[in-house]
Amino acid sequence: MNSKRIGILTSGGDCPGLNAIIRAVVKAAELNNWMVYGLPYGTDGFRDIAEKKYAPKEFLLTRKCYELPGKIRGLDVLQFFSGTILGSINKGDPNDPRVKAAILKGYGMLALDALIAIGGDGSLDIIYDLAKEGHWNIIAIPKTIDNDVPLTEFSVGFSTAVEIVTQALYDLTFTAASHNRIMIVEVMGRDAGHLALRGGIAGGADIILIPELTPCLSLDVLDGCCHQLLELQQSDRHFGLLVIAEGVKNKSNEKESYIGDYLKRQIKEYIGFLYHEKHKNFAQLKDLDMRVTVLGHLQRSHPPVAWDRLLATAFGIKAIELIKEKKYDRLVIWKRGEVSSDSLSEVIDIIKKRHKDKVCTSPVESDDCMLKTARSLGIYLGNG
Ligand code: F6P
Repeated sequence: MNSKRIGILTSGGDCPGLNAIIRAVVKAAELNNWMVYGLPYGTDGFRDIAEKKYAPKEFLLTRKCYELPGKIRGLDVLQFFSGTILGSINKGDPNDPRVKAAILKGYGMLALDALIAIGGDGSLDIIYDLAKEGHWNIIAIPKTIDNDVPLTEFSVGFSTAVEIVTQALYDLTFTAASHNRIMIVEVMGRDAGHLALRGGIAGGADIILIPELTPCLSLDVLDGCCHQLLELQQSDRHFGLLVIAEGVKNKSNEKESYIGDYLKRQIKEYIGFLYHEKHKNFAQLKDLDMRVTVLGHLQRSHPPVAWDRLLATAFGIKAIELIKEKKYDRLVIWKRGEVSSDSLSEVIDIIKKRHKDKVCTSPVESDDCMLKTARSLGIYLGNG
C-alpha cells in the first residue's frame, strides 16, 4: 500500500466536534498505513518546525496519543471532547514576509503529501493563500458554530451550539415564568443568524432578532418587539423569551459589545415613550421586568452532540478518501443529506468577495424554511 504523510490542523475559533474530526482522520489514516502529523496552533506549527522548536516526529499522531491509559487503556474517548487537542489560533494574518517564509519552509520540511485544514471562513481564507503560494495539496473541512461557510448546509459545531441555545432557553423559561419576566438571550453568530434562528425556534422564543432581518435596532423593530410583548401580556402569558444574535447592530448601525443589554435599555425607553404618548395599552408594560443572559463561549465548549460527531466523522473520512483519490483543492461539505465536496477555490472566491463587501459569508437566506416556520408560529422576527 502506498504510504502517505498527511498534516492536519485546526484554525480559527474552536467549536465542538474538532476532536471527532481528528480522531476519524487518524483512525482512517492508520488503516491505510499513512502517517498523520498534527500541527499545534494552526499554521504556527509549521513555523515551529522551521525554527527547529520541535522535530517532525514529535507531531506524529496515533490512536495511542489519545487513548486512555491504565486498566481502561484502549478507550477511545477523543470524539466525546470539545476543544481541539491541537490547539487553535484565531488571530494573526501571516502578512509578515518572515512569518510566511517560515510557515512555507516548515511545510516543506515535513514533506507532506497533503494537508487537512479544519477552519471557518476567516482562517480558511488565510490558509488558502498560503496553500496556493506553497503549492500545497489541501483539503478543507468547515467548522464553526456560526454555520456561515458557503456551500455546505452544515459546518461542524453548529448543531451543538443550537442545542446549547435551546437548552438555555428551556432553563430560563421557569425562572422567567415564576417572576413574570422577559428573558433576553444574546447568542453568538458574528454576522449570521442561523444559530439564533434555529436555537430560538427550538427553545420556544417569542421574538428572534437576527442581522439578516434586523440589521439594526431601529424604532420600527423596537415598536414590533413592544407590540409582541404587549400581545403576550394580553394573552395572559406574563413572561417572554427574546433571542438576539450578536450581529444585530444598535440604532446607529454600530456594533455593541453587549447588544442584549442595549436592547433591554432601548425597550425600556421605548415603552416609556409609548406610555407618555398616551398609548394607554402600553401601561401594562411600564413595569416590565427584563433580564439579560449572554451565552458567550458556553456555545463553543459543550461536548459535541451526536449529529456533530457524525458530521465530523463523515467529514474526516471524506477528506482521507479525497487524498487517496488525489483530489485536492476541495472543501468537504454536507449537501442534500450526504457528504460530498466542492471546489475550495470557488468557496474562497465567494468568501473573499463577501469579506471585501463586508457582508456575511453565508447568511440566513430569505427562502430558509425556518423563517417560514418561525413566522407561522407567531414568533416576531423584526422587519422580515
Ligand atoms: O466565529 C465563531 C465565533 O464563536 C463567533 O460566533 C463569535 O463572534 C466569535 O467566534 C468569538 O470569538 P473569540 O474566540 O475571539 O471570542
